[in-house]
Amino acid sequence: MLLKEIKTIYHQELEGIYPQEEIDAFFYEVITHFLGLEKFVMVLQPNLMVSKEEEQPLFETLAQLKLEKPIQYILGVSHFMDMEFKVNEHVLIPRPETEELVRWVISDCQVGSSQDLKVLDIGTGSGCIAITLAKHLPEAAVCALDISEEALKVAQENAQSNNVEVRFIHEDILEGDIKEEFDIIISNPPYVRELEKEEMKNNVKQFEPSQALFVPDDNPLLFYKTIVEFAKNQLVAGGTLYLEINQYLGKETRALLEAHNFLDIELRKDLFGNDRMLKANKR
Ligand SMILES: C[S@@+](CC[C@H](N)C(=O)[O-])C[C@H]1O[C@@H](n2cnc3c(N)ncnc32)[C@H](O)[C@@H]1O
Repeated sequence: MLLKEIKTIYHQELEGIYPQEEIDAFFYEVITHFLGLEKFVMVLQPNLMVSKEEEQPLFETLAQLKLEKPIQYILGVSHFMDMEFKVNEHVLIPRPETEELVRWVISDCQVGSSQDLKVLDIGTGSGCIAITLAKHLPEAAVCALDISEEALKVAQENAQSNNVEVRFIHEDILEGDIKEEFDIIISNPPYVRELEKEEMKNNVKQFEPSQALFVPDDNPLLFYKTIVEFAKNQLVAGGTLYLEINQYLGKETRALLEAHNFLDIELRKDLFGNDRMLKANKR
């Protein structure tokens, strides 16, 4: 079949489920992934033939896209800060908002020095935060924890494939008992209330791990309360806590840090203009 015919089939089959531009983006990502072709191949070789064998993964992917499975889970990879991460159903797909949080840490550290820094990432999932920090701050000692053993397996593979050393810890932060001290603690913990499910896309609700996303409506700051308490004890004096937060709970999360006597509290918006991250120093 001609490649351009397959592109037409993608549009016919996915129309109404995704916008046109997204269907185009899927198609180009899929042909790059499976056939090693670049986007401009359609212009340079408008009549490129694809063999039966080559067609097969393109149509298998199409069937899964019709079920609204995220393309990252179908292809098994996601990109974060120009690095490649393996993902599967046990880990959250890394988000661009989280890149902004990581950039914040990196720019703060490059002003100082990363030598002898000890960093902890709480709820590491794919390992995207910890691994990117280890890459950009090569002199720092980076640790990362998660309650999910399956997620930690993925994170370990990602550390290897990205050539960094991260110490992974299997731990429930709500029950945990870590007694080490850190200079930086960073976390993107679960923060979506059940009541916010309505506004979430199907592909997130259906395919991403609920353990990574949801908190009870009556205790939405569950993880933040524990992490702030933990940071109060386990950050060195002057150490810094960085948090990704629920956009609707900026004020409340900030108040929690104030109540625990954190200093220099800074609330930032993400690229979509939503309250999304907090930074604070331990007294
Ligand atoms: C929102 S995801 C963040 C994943 C990754 N850090 C990122 O930014 O893409 C939250 C992570 O917290 C983990 N988690 C949930 N409950 C936990 C707990 N009680 N203790 C430790 N980790 C937990 C989940 O398994 C998940 O990987």
